[in-house]
Formats: sequence, C-alpha cells, structure tokens
Amino acid sequence: MAKLDALYVQLAEEIRRMIEGGIFKPGERLPSVRALSRAKHVSIPTATACYQYLEDQGLVRVRPQSGYFVAGPELAGPPASTRTADYAHIIERTLDGENATQYDTAVQDDAFFPVHRLSLIMSELLRHDPGMLGRSTLALGDLGLRTQIARRLVNWNCVIDPEELVITNGGLEAINLCLRALTRPGDTVVVESPAYYGFLNLIDTCGLKLVEIPCSPQSGMDLDVLRQVLAQQPVKACLMSTSVSNPLGVTLALDAKRRLLAELAAKGIPLIEDATFADLHYAGPPPAAQSLDPEGNVILCASLTKTLAPGFRLGWVHPGRYMKQVRSLKRILSGDQPEILQRTLAIYLENGGYERHLRKARTELKARLAVTLESVQRRFPEGSGWTAPSGGFLLWVELARAFEVDFVQAAALGLGLRIAPGRIFSASGQFERHLRLNFAQADTSRLTASLESFGDAIRGHQGFPAASVERY
Ligand SMILES: Cc1ncc(COP(=O)(O)O)c(C=O)c1O
Repeated sequence: MAKLDALYVQLAEEIRRMIEGGIFKPGERLPSVRALSRAKHVSIPTATACYQYLEDQGLVRVRPQSGYFVAGPELAGPPASTRTADYAHIIERTLDGENATQYDTAVQDDAFFPVHRLSLIMSELLRHDPGMLGRSTLALGDLGLRTQIARRLVNWNCVIDPEELVITNGGLEAINLCLRALTRPGDTVVVESPAYYGFLNLIDTCGLKLVEIPCSPQSGMDLDVLRQVLAQQPVKACLMSTSVSNPLGVTLALDAKRRLLAELAAKGIPLIEDATFADLHYAGPPPAAQSLDPEGNVILCASLTKTLAPGFRLGWVHPGRYMKQVRSLKRILSGDQPEILQRTLAIYLENGGYERHLRKARTELKARLAVTLESVQRRFPEGSGWTAPSGGFLLWVELARAFEVDFVQAAALGLGLRIAPGRIFSASGQFERHLRLNFAQADTSRLTASLESFGDAIRGHQGFPAASVERY
C-alpha cells in the first residue's frame, strides 16, 4: 500500500491534478520517466513509481516501448512527433566527420560477400567493353539487372514485370523517391517504432510529420494502434519493413500483413514496403505484403546492399501506380546508376550462385546469433533483455536502465564492436535503455570475446550513470 506522504505519491497527485485540469488530455503521451525525473529533480525509480501508482489508479496506461499515456475512452495512438535536437545531433555524430565510424551502420564484414567472384565478372566485362565507362544510360536501370531481380521475386511470391522496376542508389534512395512521390511537406506518415534511423532521417528531410506506431518484438506493428491513428488524422503513407525489420528483426505473420493491408486500404493509404533484409530471414524469405495485395496499394522497395554488394549501392523499387512520378524524380534527383555495376550484378544473379550464397549467409548468421545470445545472456548486466531476430545480423538489447551514450560508445569501440544507441531509432526520445548490436562484424571467437568484455565493462560501471540528454 502506498504511503500518502511518499515522494512518488505526491508527484503522482501533482500529475493527477494536471490531467484533471486538462493540461494532459486523454490519450496524450506523458513526459518520459527520464524527463519527469529531470524536471522534478527526483530519481528514476521515484518517477517510475509515480507512473506505476497512476497506472494502478487507472489514470495512466503504459504502451510497451512507447511510454506512458493518459488513460481515457478516447485513448489515442502516439501523437505525431517531430525530431528533437537531441536526436538530430546523435544522428549527425553517427554519420558525419571523424566520428563516422563510432556508431554502427548495418553492414556485415566484407568476408560475407562474394567479392572475388564479383571482381572477376567486372574485370571481364570491362575487358570486353571498356566503352561502358564512357557512356551514360537512362534512369530506369539496366534491363538485364531488372530481369534478374524480377525473376528472383517469385521467392517472395511476387510476380513483377522487369519493365516495372526502377534501379536506385541503394534502398534508401528507393524509399526517398517513394516518400517524395506520395507526399508533400507537412503531410503525415506512419512508421514502425523503433524504426531504422535512415527512415527517420528521410522523413525529416522531406519535411514530413511522423507518427511512430509501437511494435512488439514478437508480432510487429500494433495494428490496433495503427487503426486508431488512421481514424484520427489524415495520413499519406505507411513506411515499414514487413519482413526482418531493423532494429527489431521482426517479421509480420501473413495474417498480420493481410490486416495491415486492409487497415491501410480502408483509408486509401499506400504502404511503402521495405524488404531489404527479407532474403536474410533464417527460414528463407517470407511472402512480401505486395504479393497479398489485390489493390495495387503497395510500393515494394529493397536493396542488394545487405545481401550481395554493399559497395555497389544498388537497390530497386516497384512503384506500381506511382511509376510516372518515381521515374521522373529519379531522373531529377540522381540519374541512372553506373552501368558497370548493374551489369556485374546481373551476371552474378544469373549464374553466380546467389541462392547458395544466401543459404550460406543465413546459416552463418543464425549460428552467430546463437553465440551472441549466449554471450549477452552470460555477461550483460542483470535485468537486460533482448529480442531474437527472425533473420539478419542485428540484435536489439534492452538494458535495465538508461545509459550514458559516450560511455557505452567508448567501451564498444575499444573492443571493436559495432553498437548503435537505441535513441537514434525513434524521433521522440524513446529507447534510452536500448542498444543495437551488429553480430556480423569480426569472426565468431573475437565477437564472443568482445561481447563478454563489453558486458563486463557495463556491468562494472556502477549500473551505468543515467544519460544526460542535454549534452547532445
Ligand atoms: C531496414 C533498412 N531498409 C533499408 C536500408 C537501406 O539500405 P541501403 O544501404 O541499400 O540504402 C537499410 C540500411 O541499413 C535498412 O536497415
């Protein structure tokens, strides 16, 4: 039973008065535990106890990975959030300048890729046709490459005419083109949460508002919340990775893909489906949502940067009914991708043993996941949790409390680990206790040793000092 003079109860009563006075409205997100602790000069446990008390009183509801919301009949989805200065700064540090390697990007060690075979194909092509380097081509992409991609898409249950594909500068450009074709600045899009920070950056640079829909590590996007959000405000597009997302590694079940399509179709909202990691699903690629969509409401995007050749930066999009806009934007923004790269990949995909390469990669990554989980389980601080991904090479770890980004970064760097702080996967300051580990860097024994030393370092660090958001 709560002591009425306890600090957390006093704080809870203060928040109750604010709710009753309409300062926080039903359905609205309350300040995060960290923000509350800072604003009221109380400890994190006191702020947490305050919210738990309010939850027991039925005044507040918690949404996993989203935070605390004012309860009420009209409990809404998470409000549209814009990026905070804090967030922008972390992303900058992630990608720019001399700190560029300090956080991780989702790329494997180059030993994962058939680089020798690719280089042989490329040399042979250039020997026969060096003029390729002096030509420029049209913006849709090499038809040979588009044909090979279309041929492989039957593995995702998709039947697509090569003429309907556009080759892009990686998956990011594919998504950028889609967002620009479907929206105007000021429009709102919905994304999964946590989401790949590249999506958040693109949404930001397109001048769009964003609503983050919470995702469960097991089943993916909370479709009830999605429905509430769609009922409450106009949304122009939904962007999500339906198979092997980043950072959760979650794959939507077929029924969930069907329901997602139905919810969006009911409001006439297109889905930008990113399937960049789909081929790295440990059980083989699942059907794409695009293949389940009778309405032509899905734009499918993917990339060969995670499976075949990060250095080539080749991705693609099937824009469907938005072909005219996407093609025109591609010409305006960047023109065609280099012919030599496209033709090299086309030849490799046709007869280079891509399926064998993928099978090997999946087996290797699955084995690495097992050793990574063992190390995390054995040596990370008590109270840590994690989400076993359905594929790929990224592990989403939750520590028992928020941590100092600089400290974790320094500890990881010293050990050669590729770790990204959870905060960069949300535009609204969530995931302060999360880390994304890349387990496709370094060989297995080095990875295990580094992870265990990293676990020891953070365990020994006084339960990690709380992160100070103001510093970024
Ligand atoms: C989920 C997801 N989609 C798309 C991309 C973009 O890939 P690319 O490097 O081909 O632009 C990434 C890159 O990390 C990603 O994680």
